[in-house]
Amino acid sequence: MNLSNSNDSRDTLKEMLSKQQEMPGFSLASGFYRSQRVYQLELEQILFKSWIYAAHISEIPNKGDYVLFDVGEDSVIISHDDQGEIRALHNICRHRGSRVCEKRSGNSKHFVCPYHGWVYENNGALRTPRASEAYVDFDKADYGLKTVAVQQYMGLIFINFDTDAKSFLPALDLINAPLGAYELANAKVAHQKTYTVEVNWKLCLENYLECYHCASSHKYYSRSHSLKEPPEKVKPLNQAMLARAEQMTGVEGIGDSLYRVYEDALSFGGCVSHMRYALYEGYETGSENGKALAPLMGVIKGYDGGAGDFQLGPISFMLNYPDHCVLYRFIPKGLKETEMKVVWFVRGDAQEGVDYDLERLIWLWHETTLEDEYIVMRNSAGVNSAFYEPGPYHPQYEELCMKFVSWYLNCLQSDGS
Ligand code: FES
Ligand SMILES: [Fe+2]
Repeated sequence: MNLSNSNDSRDTLKEMLSKQQEMPGFSLASGFYRSQRVYQLELEQILFKSWIYAAHISEIPNKGDYVLFDVGEDSVIISHDDQGEIRALHNICRHRGSRVCEKRSGNSKHFVCPYHGWVYENNGALRTPRASEAYVDFDKADYGLKTVAVQQYMGLIFINFDTDAKSFLPALDLINAPLGAYELANAKVAHQKTYTVEVNWKLCLENYLECYHCASSHKYYSRSHSLKEPPEKVKPLNQAMLARAEQMTGVEGIGDSLYRVYEDALSFGGCVSHMRYALYEGYETGSENGKALAPLMGVIKGYDGGAGDFQLGPISFMLNYPDHCVLYRFIPKGLKETEMKVVWFVRGDAQEGVDYDLERLIWLWHETTLEDEYIVMRNSAGVNSAFYEPGPYHPQYEELCMKFVSWYLNCLQSDGS
């Protein structure tokens, strides 16, 4: 059913959902990528209820520092307030709704609404508005910036628009051992880049959830990373790497696998997973020539020829090499616009130009992201055409896509539609 705007109704959605649920293991019908109604429901039922990576603590180290983070049409201020707390505040003035902060990042004691000049402290509290004596029974405590739930874990700042959401920390604690090795709280952002693609966000996410496309689409990644092969084929390689991983890295539990994602997550939108997989012979890290790119991260003592693959919430991921970490996050900016954000981390004390060369550091994942951009654009063109029909996911390679789709359909259904 290729939905046009004229039949984007509640009944059509209901029909689409039941039809899709009758074909488990198949990719989504095009209506799920084209309907404004679906998109609005996704925001309400999924994105505004899930834990999402927003920023790293090294981006706002001092009191008064802030960065903006947007999801869909919404904007959040991630603020390091004067009391030393990290806050997430809706960037919406409590007077008549203007954005109160326009600069993407900065340092300020206050956010001053550009419209009529209401002033907020950097913890969101409202100062006395101009000419407020004319208001009757006005209590400024009722008009602070609204808050978004925020949790910090190893320097990673996660937000959740649902202020009643269950804590993300019990889930994250399950990956303490393998993630703790990198000491991300002491890391720094060496570079970050946003790749804006004119496709629905789920196409970017589904693409990240499978490596079926890796062999055919990622020439540099496939040269060095074994995930492109079916598990049985690279089992000996992975077993050999896991057998030496603890000894070579000096980190107990660095190879521990765990999957608690989507329907198996401890709480809604609190997905976590970890798997360590092997790089090919001669590769210490994700670099062009296989050689190290930066000083070893955290407490890691050496190269084991492996990389840690993590999921942190439904749309945030990390691929961590012994000497640098790469974070991936997919954020919808509209029905057909997605921001693929890539963040490269190195040790906090590593100096650019001395300890690492930025161009070499970002080379692999910049090139790989450009390739992904290209394939998701082609995918989008196809699923938006009148004659597209859902096809079968690969039973092994695309298992995670199936898990996502099953969870996703239940989320859309749970609004009672
Ligand atoms: S909308 Fe912000 S002061 Fe009026
Ligand atoms: Fe890819």
